[in-house]
Amino acid sequence: MEGMDHSNMDMEGMDMENGHASHTNPLELNNSTGENELALPPLVEAKDGVVDITAQQGKTEIFEGVQTDTYGYNGSFLGPVIRVSEGETVTFRTKNDLLEPTTFHWHGVDIPGEGDGGPHQLLQPGASEDVKFTVSQGASTLWFHPHPEGSTAEQVYKGLAGLIYVEDENSKSLGLPDEYGVNDFPLVFQDRQFNEDKQFDYQAVRNEDGTIGDTMLVNGTLNPKLTVGKEKVRLRLLNGSNARNYTFKLNTGDSFQQIATDGGFLNEPTEMSEITLTPGERAEIIVDFSKYDASSDVALVNEADSILLPFKIDEQKTNTVAISETLNDYVVTEEEKNLSVTKKLELFGMGEMVYINDKQFDINRIDFTQKQGETEIWEIYNKPDMMGGMTHPFHIHGTQFKIVSIDGKEPPVELQGWKDTVAIEPDQKVKLAVKFNNKGIYMFHCHVLEHEENGMMGQVEVL
Ligand code: C2O
Ligand code: CU
Repeated sequence: MEGMDHSNMDMEGMDMENGHASHTNPLELNNSTGENELALPPLVEAKDGVVDITAQQGKTEIFEGVQTDTYGYNGSFLGPVIRVSEGETVTFRTKNDLLEPTTFHWHGVDIPGEGDGGPHQLLQPGASEDVKFTVSQGASTLWFHPHPEGSTAEQVYKGLAGLIYVEDENSKSLGLPDEYGVNDFPLVFQDRQFNEDKQFDYQAVRNEDGTIGDTMLVNGTLNPKLTVGKEKVRLRLLNGSNARNYTFKLNTGDSFQQIATDGGFLNEPTEMSEITLTPGERAEIIVDFSKYDASSDVALVNEADSILLPFKIDEQKTNTVAISETLNDYVVTEEEKNLSVTKKLELFGMGEMVYINDKQFDINRIDFTQKQGETEIWEIYNKPDMMGGMTHPFHIHGTQFKIVSIDGKEPPVELQGWKDTVAIEPDQKVKLAVKFNNKGIYMFHCHVLEHEENGMMGQVEVL
């Protein structure tokens, strides 16, 4: 896929002088040596309708014998998987135990604006807040992370990120692998750069076009491996990196099946040989390990080379599941295809000079309004610059949208599903059918976190 990778960017002389990671020469990811079994985040469900979520600081042994200062939710590093069901009314009891303000943003969740956790909902150190809502969307893999103006990128980098699983009647009836940590695994991919003391020194490595690192952490595990059965396994992939794109493949060249996009199932399991995710995007895939055995060398790799996650096959574990051929009834209607564009957005710039419609984010400015429950067509154009430009993962809060077209054409089948973040390559024009089910103020922005912080963000007020 042209233009989907930082290495395709042509930005000569960018940000070289202070020794920052340059996009002209992206840092290679080190191969996982597979010595550590992948960490599995704790799975939590509401107790008496409440889920407690505390942002805290701590120390984590990422490298053997070394304590790294980290942030986490309900623990020292990263966060739990919160499992909810469609129709359930739940209270997220959030608490800020950090020494700095933060917010709790529910990425991909259909939630009233006041609970969305954007930059307006700052929680001071020591403060708590209850976010109560009814889960109104179908089965999906969503996530949560902080969103305070000016420190989103750094707080995420230090470890604030968790997952939200939504289940519904449909998801339980499809025959999908769904035993958490047995045949259904969350995989949060984050590249990091450690200093000599094995600490995150975000300010030292910050890159205005997106901070990347040479060290891969999956669920916070360094050099991970994952032991799986000789069976079909569901992997829920989240690109939780600040800026790096991944093209996931199997080193064997074998294909896998994609079953879900950001916000729900594809209509049918779709055979794929690779899948690219930009920051913020998710996908669920099924890998059939029944054709391998304990001696097989199977791994998830990035592009051609770097080994992200080697698998170890446990031949004792076998279970044959028949996955339904029909997973969902997603459709872009004729009516939606025929709607005219009512919102135009132009993404432009790089580094600290990034704009949407020539403007940088202003928390006191509402850029657009839209009526609750009404579908509008947003047209997003990634305007290239003299040096080509880069892919921007465009995200809208508080909704799942449909991709109507990419450069006038129907999107590929793996993008024919609910999305909240879409990769837009230089010179691409993407049309989205966007509907908000709730009222309030929502952000839209580039999910390269440094771009978001540098102002490639705006606000839509739903009335
Ligand atoms: Cu993933 Cu504005 O967020
Ligand atoms: Cu961007």
